[in-house]
Amino acid sequence: LPQHFSFVAGDRGNWRITNMQAIRGDGLDDAASIDVVTGLDPAAPAATWTLRGFASNVRYATRPEVTMLRAVQAPLAREEARLAALIPIKKTAAWWDMAQDERRRMFEETSRHTAIGLEYLPAVARQLLHSRDLGEPFDFLTWFEFAPEHARAFDDLLRRLRATPEWNFVDRETEIRLTRA
Ligand code: HEM
Repeated sequence: LPQHFSFVAGDRGNWRITNMQAIRGDGLDDAASIDVVTGLDPAAPAATWTLRGFASNVRYATRPEVTMLRAVQAPLAREEARLAALIPIKKTAAWWDMAQDERRRMFEETSRHTAIGLEYLPAVARQLLHSRDLGEPFDFLTWFEFAPEHARAFDDLLRRLRATPEWNFVDRETEIRLTRA
């Protein structure tokens, strides 16, 4: 069964926000912390905002890519991975108007998303959550955890991915950096 998660921003939570930056489109209201909880949390009155998503099957990764990713990827909640990034992303109508094979080509053959990302594993642990089918304001919630010594490498990864043709299809993106509370 898909695993649902809610990111509840407010005064308290298991992750403290250190920086928020609207990369493209409207940002999100400032908050002190994010509580990452399992389940589809109803919008609590005390929350500044709540974003929801669910883990799903892969859409684009091929057999060799899945095998490579599994061979090197690190789990979430590693002791040393005290920093995290939550990056909600919404893609354009033009992206969603494409056929599956066209999206795959743009994602990997043209933009090398997986190939670039693989260079940063296992330092960066990742979790992709889908939101579009929940009618959420973003299509994806991307979550990353890493040790402070890999923060520079993570910045480098963001710079490289945002320079790819895939990112021409990003409508809205907000970057939220966190540290374990
Ligand atoms: C840490 C290294 C990374 C690796 C190895 C990686 C790998 C992947 C893979 C394999 C997929 C496709 C999943 C599928 O087949 O459905 C994917 C999707 C995605 N990734 Fe990454 N990624 C990385 C970093 C990032 C970063 C830093 C961001 C955001 C700035 C990001 C944003 C996304 C988004 C939004 C999707 C969904 C794309 C879509 O379905 O249209 N990824 N990633």
